Amino acid sequence: MQFEVFTLLPEVFPSYLETSILKRARERGLITVHVHNIRDYTHDKHHTADDQPYGGGGGMVMKPEPVFEAIESVLGLNPPPSTSEPDSTTPIILLTPQGRVFNQNVAKELSQHPRIALLCGRYEGIDERIRENLVTDEISIGDYVLTGGELPALILIDAVSRLLPDVLGDPTGAEDDSHAMGLLEYPHYTRPPEFRGSKVPDVLLSGDHKKIDQWRRQQALLRTFQKRPDMLEKADLSEADKKFVKGLKSNVE
Ligand code: ADE
Repeated sequence: MQFEVFTLLPEVFPSYLETSILKRARERGLITVHVHNIRDYTHDKHHTADDQPYGGGGGMVMKPEPVFEAIESVLGLNPPPSTSEPDSTTPIILLTPQGRVFNQNVAKELSQHPRIALLCGRYEGIDERIRENLVTDEISIGDYVLTGGELPALILIDAVSRLLPDVLGDPTGAEDDSHAMGLLEYPHYTRPPEFRGSKVPDVLLSGDHKKIDQWRRQQALLRTFQKRPDMLEKADLSEADKKFVKGLKSNVE
């Protein structure tokens, strides 16, 4: 999977991408991240990528020309005619607090594309013509406002990459994640078996995998019931799950 990132702050990206799982995924050729500096597509002496808003008001607005030129030349879109085939199937995603809200389902959807382009907004905003005539999707990572789209782009790259085959060491790694099954994930323990008087649940030491699976499923249901009851309404529950949840509800009443 290939990510094309367009930003005015390319220096933000390497430290995270050169660490841990994403580093290994890149080294193994499972993901490629190209970070493009929008300023490289300006043509004036000062490499101007922003300007004052028409109509007045505070803040600066990202100019359309360098953004169009950067994205069109990397994706081989028009103009100018490029030697490579135009890539009009790649989603061009603007990271903005006005976008649809990112979640595990959106991550899964994006993981089906061989290539995606991520445009990081900066300053007070971007010229509306970029949104109207270039961008094909808009994504927000939550209802709060950051200083730019760089952290949201890294978050999206991280969440999408770990869903790709072989990126996580464990082939079932992403299946039990919180949100992957529409539930929060069960609790985890490692050694020691007792820490400051607090013990690892006996069932996890029992070696009985059927019982362990059942305990984990019930813990996932319990956690979701306690912390995110809204998710339970939409989760895909078996008859046994429903019975367990009914028991939880009747304990509260
Ligand atoms: N840029 C600024 N805030 C953002 C957010 N919440 N999501 C995506 N991009 C942003």
